Amino acid sequence: MHTDTVTGTSNLPPPRFEVPLTEHEVLDAGEQAALSAEIGTLLARENAVLVAHYYTAAAVQALAEATGGYVSDSLDMARFGHTHPAQTLVVAGVRFMGETAKILNPEKRVLMPNLAAECSLDLGCPPAAFNAYCDAHPDRTVVVYANTSAAVKARADWMVTSGSALDVVRHLHAQGQKILWAPDKYLGDYIRNQTGADLLLWNGACIVHEEFKGRELAVLMAQHPHAKVLVHPESPPSVIALADVVSSTSGLINAVRTLPAQHFIVATDRGIFYKMQQAAPTKTLIEAPTAGHSATCRSCAQCPWMAMNGLRQLAHALRTGAGEVHVAPALSARAVLPIKRLLDFSAAQQLTIQGNNDA
Ligand code: 13P
Ligand code: SF4
Repeated sequence: MHTDTVTGTSNLPPPRFEVPLTEHEVLDAGEQAALSAEIGTLLARENAVLVAHYYTAAAVQALAEATGGYVSDSLDMARFGHTHPAQTLVVAGVRFMGETAKILNPEKRVLMPNLAAECSLDLGCPPAAFNAYCDAHPDRTVVVYANTSAAVKARADWMVTSGSALDVVRHLHAQGQKILWAPDKYLGDYIRNQTGADLLLWNGACIVHEEFKGRELAVLMAQHPHAKVLVHPESPPSVIALADVVSSTSGLINAVRTLPAQHFIVATDRGIFYKMQQAAPTKTLIEAPTAGHSATCRSCAQCPWMAMNGLRQLAHALRTGAGEVHVAPALSARAVLPIKRLLDFSAAQQLTIQGNNDA
């Protein structure tokens, strides 16, 4: 167990849930090639596009790229699905990503290889308990991370992702708003430290990032004194404190591409190494430690739910229509508001950045 503590966290006990073991699909080269070819044909037949997260298996990411689909972080996955003309979106990721795609595109069919692909942050924030928490703090603006259910989003004023949370909270803080933040206490703690905003934190965590260890990371850094340390902000404070770069998955890949260093220690799901290596083939990537002398890792830098996105189930979903995501229209109509608020905010910000660059 980690020892990081975070102040200003809800004293509600974190909900209990089952965490599966990480089991990646095993395919020989012939099976992988045959399934990839079949999925390519099915995507064209179904007027479908494959959108994958950076944490999915390399074979899934490669297939998304090869078929005109997209591989990205959760914010850009939502943006891409929203603007792409395909009638069917196939989302390889975890359930909140499929739900977000469906909420933004109610007229489209959204398929997932495995609807059981959950997320510990989503499971750790049940809507009834969350609603009660919001009711107890009516003076606060409710900001939820994308890694939540449609029902939790329906209660929120804003949705944010790791790539947009700092900007949104800075904006709300500048308006003098106090914030109720859910569900990731580590991300919330990081955002609070960076912005100085008043954040009350839900007691949730990502079971993958929570396993990174600050003490062991310091030992590894001493062995690689020239390496830059890249950390996803779902990690505990002791790990974030040692980082050269704290960023969303897209931001971490960009850091590998643009920083002049040759070696990088990376604290996030190791599925990201596929894209990092593609972005900078000559650079050396080192996994940050998830187990110490006093602890063993369980997910070991591999999200068990992301690993559920195999090629066999992807092909099955396209052949049969299995794994279709449904969100009740009334719920969707409410949950879309905080999502759209974020997309509008980030579009306006990009225009501002563009305007400043053009000036
Ligand atoms: P990103 O938005 O940075 O891709 O993060 C999503 C996620 O689930 C990280 O664990
Ligand atoms: Fe959720 Fe963590 Fe998996 Fe991301 S890595 S989907 S936050 S459990």
